[in-house]
Amino acid sequence: MGTRVGSANEGSAAEVMDFSGRPLAHVQPGQVVVSMTPRSLVTILGSCVAVCVYDPVRRVGGLNHYLLPGNSGETQSTRSGPGAMRRLLEELSTAGAIRERLVAKVFGGACVLGGEARSNGGHLGRENVRVALDALELAGIPVVAEDVCGTRGRKLIFHSDTGDARMREQRQAGATAYPAAWPDATVAPLTEREFSQFRSLVRATAGINLTPSKKALLVGRLVKRLRACRLDSFGEYYRLAEQDDAERQRMIDAICTNETHFFREPRQFDFLAGRVVPLWCDELRAGKRPPRVRIWSAACSTGEEPYSLAMALLDRLPPSAGWQIQILASDLSSRVLAKAREATWPIAQMHEIPMPYLRRFMLRGTRTEEGLMCAGSEIREVVEFSSLNLMDRSYQVGAPFDAIFCRNVLIYFDAETKAGVVGRLIPHLLPGGLLFLGQAESLAGVDARLRGVGPSVYARSDAPAASTVGRGRLRREP
Ligand SMILES: C[S@@+](CC[C@H](N)C(=O)[O-])C[C@H]1O[C@@H](n2cnc3c(N)ncnc32)[C@H](O)[C@@H]1O
Repeated sequence: MGTRVGSANEGSAAEVMDFSGRPLAHVQPGQVVVSMTPRSLVTILGSCVAVCVYDPVRRVGGLNHYLLPGNSGETQSTRSGPGAMRRLLEELSTAGAIRERLVAKVFGGACVLGGEARSNGGHLGRENVRVALDALELAGIPVVAEDVCGTRGRKLIFHSDTGDARMREQRQAGATAYPAAWPDATVAPLTEREFSQFRSLVRATAGINLTPSKKALLVGRLVKRLRACRLDSFGEYYRLAEQDDAERQRMIDAICTNETHFFREPRQFDFLAGRVVPLWCDELRAGKRPPRVRIWSAACSTGEEPYSLAMALLDRLPPSAGWQIQILASDLSSRVLAKAREATWPIAQMHEIPMPYLRRFMLRGTRTEEGLMCAGSEIREVVEFSSLNLMDRSYQVGAPFDAIFCRNVLIYFDAETKAGVVGRLIPHLLPGGLLFLGQAESLAGVDARLRGVGPSVYARSDAPAASTVGRGRLRREP
């Protein structure tokens, strides 16, 4: 029992005691250290990030000192980025920590060298912080304290047995302790003027309409970003988000609701499988269509929607019968797209997927992936991802689609924005192609080129349809 040290820098430095009698271990860049006995872990951070993870019941903790993922090109390595996070969690689990109890504190990511500043206004340190926070979010580990960015290198001391962490500038006597999250009281309240500035910026960037009733929600979602950027007023944060593309993207990420689940709105999946697919099969037999189906999931969030479509379609239109399924999945948020590409979800979501599909298309995680499930190759192969903002003037998405799923996103737009988005989507539907919206999203009066044919499903009816779908064989059920 004792300290487990991982990474290429195998073996810890010689140990001395700290003032409270704990052995003190120096953690080198690229190292992962977990201690099963009380120990002070010390590391010096510049642009690098250290993540301290702690199980308060087992009283076991560890930290990784990430290398710069942007510089090292080691995205698959256990010394940097998500690999270092996986290694830390693996070591903690070996030390007896329980995943569901873990909490994290994140430190470092300073802009220490002038040359590190990026043309987009970001800097490597901030990018490292984002990688660390994304990896923690993906692992479902709450961040209870952050002290990141800034302009100077600092020393971090983490007590593995209490979870306490302190940062101090080198050669400085005082240290800031982070036993818990920063209090909200440090942030000045959002003024009406600032709220209105954020409303305009958010609407222009993502189309999202923040009504006055959303003020508290905006504060709740942005305060995390203020902390991460070490700012204590919304005014300063607004100026940063306005100037810095990367931070503006993170602001939108923080504001967007990404809620989704597999086979959401089952009536629409029943409609697709029970009414639309048989028509496509009839058309193929009659020589009126190729054995190919193209679908676009236009606000795909973390991927549950496109993978549900992949399962439902591969089941009924199998490649063994000559069918080719192509699904384009896009979203504005790079954070959710990264998760969608990873195609890994908590196993608790398995109940959303019908058992035969679960058995055929999904894989269950073991060992370090315990508690997770991921998409199997059959469905991965038919889904392609792309970053796309529905506010763009035009959409670069290739050939027209048999169906577009644009569900539970128009609800965040005002009437004008919604009409504009629908108007730009229609040309990307084949004649007779189908637009699936969320159940709360009516198209009444929005566009005469669309005709209701199913539960929040509309057919493109402005162009002569080769397809039987568009020629009226799909009618609303009484
Ligand atoms: C509530 S989720 C809906 C996910 C999925 N379509 C469903 O119904 O389960 C809304 C998604 O819309 C995305 N979104 C918001 N504004 C967008 C925009 N302007 N362009 C593209 N995606 C956007 C968000 O990032 C989020 O992932």
